[in-house]
Amino acid sequence: MGFRTIEELCAELEEKRAAALAGGGQEAVLKQKGKGKGTARERIAKLLDPDSFVELDEFVTHRCNNFGLDEKKILGDGVVTGWGTIDGRKVFIFSQDFTVFGGSLGEKHAEKICKVMDMAMQMGCPIIGIYDSGGARIQEGTDALNGYGKIFKRNTLASGVIPQFSIIMGPTAGGAVYSPALTDFIFMVDNEGFMHITGPEVIKAVTGEAIEREELGGAKAHNTISGVAHFEAKDEDECFEQVRKVFSYLPLNNLDDAPFKATSDSPNRADLALREIVPHNPNMSYDVHEILKLVLDDGIFTEVQEDFAKNILTGYGRIGGRSVGIVANNADVMAGCLDINASDKASRFVRHCDAFNLPIVTFVDVPGYLPGADQEHGGIIRRGAKLLYAYSEATVPLITVIMRKAYGGAYLAMSSKALGADVVYAWPQAEIAVLGAEGAASIVFKKEINDAEDPSAKRLEKIEEYRQAFANPYRAAERGYVDRVIMPEETRRSIFMALEGMESKRDTRPSKKHGVIPH
Ligand code: HXC
Repeated sequence: MGFRTIEELCAELEEKRAAALAGGGQEAVLKQKGKGKGTARERIAKLLDPDSFVELDEFVTHRCNNFGLDEKKILGDGVVTGWGTIDGRKVFIFSQDFTVFGGSLGEKHAEKICKVMDMAMQMGCPIIGIYDSGGARIQEGTDALNGYGKIFKRNTLASGVIPQFSIIMGPTAGGAVYSPALTDFIFMVDNEGFMHITGPEVIKAVTGEAIEREELGGAKAHNTISGVAHFEAKDEDECFEQVRKVFSYLPLNNLDDAPFKATSDSPNRADLALREIVPHNPNMSYDVHEILKLVLDDGIFTEVQEDFAKNILTGYGRIGGRSVGIVANNADVMAGCLDINASDKASRFVRHCDAFNLPIVTFVDVPGYLPGADQEHGGIIRRGAKLLYAYSEATVPLITVIMRKAYGGAYLAMSSKALGADVVYAWPQAEIAVLGAEGAASIVFKKEINDAEDPSAKRLEKIEEYRQAFANPYRAAERGYVDRVIMPEETRRSIFMALEGMESKRDTRPSKKHGVIPH
């Protein structure tokens, strides 16, 4: 028997490559496409820079002999893994292939994912997962479960070290949902991706409740009701665009700086329109997006969790080319008060920015916490505490702009001086106080009001008296709780100057294993 020629060997390799590329075969690929879904490799090609993807482990197969699986081995084992670039910056990626055993996760499938996660950690690069899977590969039993466990562990260790993105473009069910849940961001495609612990059939059988899969765990449900997801896209292309956009604001790892993006928008731009947006009447609302548009570079604000807890905004922008995290009360929704969901949303975002060296700019107009038994029994105490915790432990530059109301505990929670804000600006109409003028006057002057000939006139007089005396930024400025009172149009330049001034910030915390954040 002679040696085979290099041509024969290369032909064999080519054949194997073609077999790996075929995934679960033509029929399964057509079925995938028939649902309007891309294949695992098409998705990677769309997300990454052209020709940048380097695939690993395309010949890996499972080693399970149960239920006849030994007769069925498909190269790649249902997940495509490797690395590539987005805008020239390196990322590691895995993309589950539903055409192979329904993208189900077995021992080797999990090992492939763990390998790229480990590489991402070692190289200090983000990891992106595209999920499209029937969950634990039933034939592989505990090997499959163990595989999930290894991924969860890696998700947790990578948290705060490298950004982790999860893209849900198919089923993600049962305990499998916890891998995305442990990552920084979940992107979901409408009518394509879904996530739930127990599906509609199990719910029906156990509780009798009837609910459709999309309504239960689709993109809309998780972006508006549960707060599990961070972005909703109408299709795969829009989803990839969202991922690339978020990625552009972030450093590759926790020791890296966020990319600088030059702009022709001068940091000195002073927009007088900022004087007009916040109504003089403190009971009138406005949309804080309008303010962000006028302050941020080129008016671009990339919102995170846009449709969840809309009373507070979280997201990214740039000022003078630098990436910043933004947290802003939105007076247009529930007067911008803090509630359970807003606290959960903002505190996680603050911790994310802190982990990845993004300065946080906080825009404040907060009347307080939402009153109600629902809120109290839902844990506003422990959940509201998360926001105090997140700002207090943050060591990135914290810049605060108090636009109007800043009352009581909510004032403190919104990046106050006492929690560690480096620079607190206030607009001339800011009201920093324990309570709003109406509530405060009714309590402080209760006797005088009740004893007056015309109590309601007296009440109005006292409210005005209180407002003149206390509902302004100058009391806080006298104490140094506000560092500067600025005109609204000076906001952009003032933030820019603060970012410059705080760039070299070094802050340390007492040595400890980790804190115990309220949950
Ligand atoms: C092995 C699986 C599979 C799985 C799907 N397939 N899920 N094989 N293990 N978990 C296979 C199917 O047998 C089928 O193979 C192919 O994938 C396509 O599946 P279909 O059912 O034809 O597709 P579709 O109709 O689109 O339905 C998709 C689905 C459904 C909704 C995901 O397949 C499904 O309900 N699968 C089971 C989901 C599940 O219960 N998973 C376990 C979750 S618990 P053929 O050869 O016929 O093409 C879990 C625990 C994780 O994951 C715990 C971590 C801690």
